[in-house]
Amino acid sequence: MSKMNQYKKYIPFKPQPIENRTWPDNLITKAPVWCSVDLRDGNQSLIDPMNRQEKLEFFHTLVDIGVKEIEIGFPSASETEYEICRELIEGGHIPDDVTIQVLVQARPHLIRKTFEAIAGAKNVILHFYNSTSTLQRKVVFNMDCDGITKIATDAADLIYEMAQPVIAGGMNLRYEYSPESFMGTEMDYAVEICQAVLEHLHATAENKVILNLPTTVENCMPNQFADELEYFIRKLPSRECAIISLHPHNDRGTGVATTEAGLLAGAERVEATLFGNGERTGNVDMVTVAMNMYTQGVDPELDFSNINKIRDMYERCTKMRVPERQPYVGDLVFTAFSGSHQDAINKGFNYMETSGTGLWEVPYLPIDPTDLGREYEPVRINSQSGKGGAAFIMNHKFGYDMPKAMHPEFGAIVQAETERLGTELKADAIYRLFKENYLDVDAPYRLIKHSFEEQTMGETSVVTFWGTIQIDETVFTVHGEGNGPIDAFFNAIHGQKMDKFRFIDYKEHAISDGSDSMAVAYVQLRDREGKDVFGVGISHNINLAPLKAILCAINRAKIARRKEK
Ligand code: KIV
Ligand code: ZN
Repeated sequence: MSKMNQYKKYIPFKPQPIENRTWPDNLITKAPVWCSVDLRDGNQSLIDPMNRQEKLEFFHTLVDIGVKEIEIGFPSASETEYEICRELIEGGHIPDDVTIQVLVQARPHLIRKTFEAIAGAKNVILHFYNSTSTLQRKVVFNMDCDGITKIATDAADLIYEMAQPVIAGGMNLRYEYSPESFMGTEMDYAVEICQAVLEHLHATAENKVILNLPTTVENCMPNQFADELEYFIRKLPSRECAIISLHPHNDRGTGVATTEAGLLAGAERVEATLFGNGERTGNVDMVTVAMNMYTQGVDPELDFSNINKIRDMYERCTKMRVPERQPYVGDLVFTAFSGSHQDAINKGFNYMETSGTGLWEVPYLPIDPTDLGREYEPVRINSQSGKGGAAFIMNHKFGYDMPKAMHPEFGAIVQAETERLGTELKADAIYRLFKENYLDVDAPYRLIKHSFEEQTMGETSVVTFWGTIQIDETVFTVHGEGNGPIDAFFNAIHGQKMDKFRFIDYKEHAISDGSDSMAVAYVQLRDREGKDVFGVGISHNINLAPLKAILCAINRAKIARRKEK
């Protein structure tokens, strides 16, 4: 029996009944208005809140990303918060097309202080809130709905009154109201209090008020939240006077899904943080929501094309760490360990190149990593990786395009090493294995001296090869003719002890080594028992590269046989 027998003490979420819901048939077709709450909700949940310098750096990054509404803090809450607000305004940090948002509880003295804090700003959203949920009314405020509504409407009256001279003075001042813990509020009451606030703020279709509907604590499934939202929007009498905003937290780990469901249900604006920083399990992650849209062909109107730089700033300023598996930005999210995934990705890249459609059709990679300024490589190679991954690295990172038939042989060498070490192999280690097992193999048979002569008669040409070869202490000379260098070499070694192989296949391509271009040749030989062995040769001379490859293959077979003995 489970030891977790306390589950009965939890009260299940009571879904909002709704008939003929329409949201499941909708699609997200355009970006919402984004509002960053990093500098407020995010900041208040840090062990060490950001200092002035860090907040400024964060603010400028948000501006660069393209966020147009930024909640900068809670200026009535502390002197530091107040000072940072003043610094942003007086220091000329706020571009004309960016609106700062300031949060305040629905309490008169804090509202007054907030008006002082925003003096001189060009565009401001004054965001006030009070808790409306059944639970908060019962256990925190011990108040009925009328009492809670009065807190909100009194605050709305004061804000409206104080705003008039400020607006007359030229400030573009807008209002936002949050029924905090909206998700746990009876929807009919949520409609009632929000409608009252809209009226007290004199909201019109031209001067809309933002109604921000938070899942302060995420306590229901995304579909249940979407039902609440669709119901709320349908019932709100002055719908056209409101901008419906989401402020999802992530307690159930479904903040992104809730946001997406909320957008389907009619929300127009999203409050979020970078990488989901925020109270407890965080606010919803702006990057994930935005990039999810992007992968559906929708412009999120935010620029995450240098996500690593944004992550570095975030980690430096917040002292938080972005986990390895965090969508779009985590260290491991563009890495395939599994061999079959690596193969499929490889095929996807090849397909994209040959099809030339420009569409992204790569299995296991929902997004082109380069759109985020990242790379698919290095493929991380561990003992679960197959033959394709190592070949992919050798090709894309080092320019060695091995023939397909050689992938299993090199893959097995790499796999044996990962098993021996018990860790993953980085690209450089894979290259080292390639070098040790192919490029550096020049014994026991060594070509000490050689020359070619080519005679062409009409369409046919005859190549003659002379060579001096050493094995251990023995040196011998060979010579032979053929229709090309490889043929001539094989004829030259005919009858020697090393002549135990049939030539199967050969591939050669250019490879650049800094400013230098070299030829690399891959040769496949088959011994008398039918076992294949590969060799690789590299040289400035395109005739010599395949000979080195043949000797490499013969030497590798010989070394393997000596080991077996
Ligand atoms: O999560 C929340 O409800 C909030 C409000 C202040 C909007 O942060
Ligand atoms: Zn919040």
